[in-house]
Amino acid sequence: MANNPVNTARPIKFNNDGKLKIIHITDTHMEDENIDYTLVLIARACDIEKPHIAIITGDNVLNYDDPEKTKGYISRFMEIFSSRKIPVAITFGNHDSEVGPLSRRELMEYYNSFDCSITNDNGKELAQSGTFNIPVLSSDGKEMKYNLWVFDSGDYDKEGHYGCVSPEDVEWYKKKSDQITEQNGGKVYSLAFQHIIVPEVYDVLKKVNKHKLYSFSHMYNKKDYYMFDPDQVNFGTLNETPCCGFPNYGQFDAMVEKGDVLGIFSGHDHTNAFGVKNKGIDIVNSLSTRYNGDRFSTMYGYRILEVDEKDTSRYTSYNMHWYNMYSKEDIKNLKATTDDFTVRTAVLVRRKGRIQKLHTKIGRGFTKIFTGRKVTYNA
Ligand SMILES: [Fe+2]
Repeated sequence: MANNPVNTARPIKFNNDGKLKIIHITDTHMEDENIDYTLVLIARACDIEKPHIAIITGDNVLNYDDPEKTKGYISRFMEIFSSRKIPVAITFGNHDSEVGPLSRRELMEYYNSFDCSITNDNGKELAQSGTFNIPVLSSDGKEMKYNLWVFDSGDYDKEGHYGCVSPEDVEWYKKKSDQITEQNGGKVYSLAFQHIIVPEVYDVLKKVNKHKLYSFSHMYNKKDYYMFDPDQVNFGTLNETPCCGFPNYGQFDAMVEKGDVLGIFSGHDHTNAFGVKNKGIDIVNSLSTRYNGDRFSTMYGYRILEVDEKDTSRYTSYNMHWYNMYSKEDIKNLKATTDDFTVRTAVLVRRKGRIQKLHTKIGRGFTKIFTGRKVTYNA
């Protein structure tokens, strides 16, 4: 199974200008209360960013008792990408198949019924349905220039802790990485995407013995607190405990050994938008891409990653918060061009977002005054 060539998705290409722009969408948690708002904002994000590919890393849509309702929501979500001709890669989180009758395989089959899905797995071959790689060809289409890994990091272990990438999928990664290196006459750089962050994130955070402002207790050892280590590379903001998997089948170590992965991008921890570097690999968390209609969730959003085929050993990345997405001018233009609900959402996000931004700024400002510590870095 691990060698099965169907674990490789349809390839994509660098754009004609040699660039690859990825939008990382995660934890959309679409359900009755938020789906309408969330879809408006994701559509807006796609129109602003014009990404070449969307990678969706799980906890996507609530799996309702009525499978037709779940499928209806998935359909509305996929239609955003289909109508804009944006290829989509999907994997799952801990919640996708937690409730409701649809299994991961059935969900994957349905996602794959949309023409924008590049996930080749039809739900019948892979250990967890959502682990595959996406070759990225050079802009002239002549060679494989880059690679994107998408991993299904599972849901829970038997004791109910968060899961991780399975041993079979780690083995598959190792073999596939070797195969790609061999076929291309050398290492092909890559980025990896998955729902649950790797536990090695804690290795490069600073352990503190007692709770300090903006330090967080370890996911499985509540006595130890962690915060950014000023002696390590940090970017973005650590807002909550990284909820990594409890078991660990060596995914991160395998990536260090192979040396082809520049960064692992996760979701799962909705308010975390940060990155740390461990053994040459960026361990990054992206914000939840949903909007609940309240002030707080205007600080959610999405992540953009950009790669240039001229130098694939580097990439750039940043977060966009919903509260930065609409100017006064944008709203005026929207009023002339789109439907009432879209305009109402934009007005709501802008109004509540301005209050949230102020709130965040004051909170961080006070932290700096009282602790001398900067808790928001460049995102
Ligand atoms: Fe999650």
